[in-house]
Amino acid sequence: MQARQPSASFLTRSSLPVSLSAMLFSVLVSSQALAADNSHDAIAERLKPVGELCLKGESCAGDMAGAGQQPSAAAETDSASAASAIDGEKVYGGICMACHTTGAAGAPRLGEAGDWEARLAKGNETLYTHAIEGFNAMPAKGGNPALSDEEVKAAVDYLLDSVR
Ligand code: HEC
Repeated sequence: MQARQPSASFLTRSSLPVSLSAMLFSVLVSSQALAADNSHDAIAERLKPVGELCLKGESCAGDMAGAGQQPSAAAETDSASAASAIDGEKVYGGICMACHTTGAAGAPRLGEAGDWEARLAKGNETLYTHAIEGFNAMPAKGGNPALSDEEVKAAVDYLLDSVR
């Protein structure tokens, strides 16, 4: 206590005007802060995070309902089902084999690496596109438009796997 007294009296003596104005200032500031706290702006500001949550509602309601995971989960499910549910061999056996097992119409044959060498160089995307959209005597989707792109791709993969 005694150690403080000199500084307290120092404050009282030399810094009283400063302290007073500082006090006044802080009162002003805090009353402004209080006023601001109750102003519409401040209320809006306080509500804003809630509003954002609701605004994002579409995406964030989705988020909250698990949409944060839902799209990716759905995408995973889709690709997983596309990858696992589609049996390339089965699709191939359903239609592609008609030409690609026998080499009919000059079709590159299953398991005949020589038939595929030049085609492999085109890259998978081109081969997928040609199988889906058709290429010369290769009919689009092997002639079965009911096949999905993914099914055709799976059949292409099956063909390509046989020669790699
Ligand atoms: C009616 C006969 C026929 C059927 C059915 C058929 N193909 Fe083909 N396919 C061909 C012929 C012919 C070619 C060679 C075309 C060329 O190179 O001019 C070919 C080429 C391809 C190629 C190579 C394309 C390229 O760019 O070299 C792929 C991949 C392919 N077929 C996939 C399939 C798949 C997958 C199926 C089944 C969904 C299928 N084909 C069904 C006749 C057929």
